[in-house]
Amino acid sequence: MKARIVVLPGDGIGPEVTAEAVRVLQIVAGRFKHEFSFTEQLLGGCSIDRHGTALTDETLADCKASDAILLGAVGGPKWDDPRAKVRPEQGLLALRKGLDVFANLRPVRVHDSLVDASPLKPDRLRGVDILVIRELTGGLYFGQPKGRDRKDGHERAVDTLEYYDFEIRRVVELAFRLAQGRRRKVTSVDKANVLESSRLWRQVASEIGAAHPEIALDHVLVDTASMRLITHPSSFDVVVTENMFGDILTDEASVLAGSMGMLPSASIGESGPGVYEPIHGSAPDIAGKGLANPVGTILSSAMLLRHSLGLAEEAGVVERAVDAAIAEGCRTGDLGGKLGTRQMAQEIARRL
Ligand code: IPM
Ligand code: MG
Repeated sequence: MKARIVVLPGDGIGPEVTAEAVRVLQIVAGRFKHEFSFTEQLLGGCSIDRHGTALTDETLADCKASDAILLGAVGGPKWDDPRAKVRPEQGLLALRKGLDVFANLRPVRVHDSLVDASPLKPDRLRGVDILVIRELTGGLYFGQPKGRDRKDGHERAVDTLEYYDFEIRRVVELAFRLAQGRRRKVTSVDKANVLESSRLWRQVASEIGAAHPEIALDHVLVDTASMRLITHPSSFDVVVTENMFGDILTDEASVLAGSMGMLPSASIGESGPGVYEPIHGSAPDIAGKGLANPVGTILSSAMLLRHSLGLAEEAGVVERAVDAAIAEGCRTGDLGGKLGTRQMAQEIARRL
């Protein structure tokens, strides 16, 4: 098949890790006789430096016209002034909203040979296989009003947590669909004892649950969920939650996998191209040094093959190569090893 992939390396370690994922995709294309073309565009801080905005209309249009987007990471100390009018993260949010990718799939698996890389006890970690589905285009990140003003002689800042029923329904329905092919258990995470938006979330999730008696649905408050993620991580199958809870819980969940550098993600909508990116950030402290773990991005490219291109077999080849490299002891610094970004990717490529 032919596919056009837009690559948004972004800032910090983004360019280093996306370069390795592109190499992997090129090898896969050669092996399976596909034609993948890659177009690089700016996103985040590098786009601010060049164009004064974190995402230009041209880049968004190019992304919309593509089959899939591979993204590195955005942000860094250079653009971190809290009073700055433009921020790298705005580009990421505008991209997600502009492409209407409302569901962010973040699989968390613990590799047997990495149980010692996590600070948690090994017996808690065995068998952990969680799919977190984070709502990505609603909630606090996008609700209006949002901003600063002066009120009653004080400076005030406002963010709004807003959800429509249809926004909840489409992401929870996706969670139920994906649970069909897994252990048939959905945990919906909310804060329904306090938040009105969470009460609507729970109501909609319950309606969908009632229509799917073959799937076990559980509602868990976010504070309890964050605790259970550490005490009983193997009890979770599919977790579905609103935007900010999902952001926080997936950083926590990455501790299970041994390192943030291991986890991929797929952001998908009803149709159109998906966005594939590691869950880690731009790691400015190690940027440009060739030390970053490329696994999260390489596994994101496997998700790209599966979800946007429908190439499940090819995705499996990439995932098994990563598994084999890890099982055979290949480790970057974040996992206590000595391999650099390039070497780790080469070890994976050799096993494709
Ligand atoms: C993530 C990141 C982003 C988010 C930031 C960079 C805006 O933390 O993808 O998890 O909060 O969504
Ligand atoms: Mg995050």
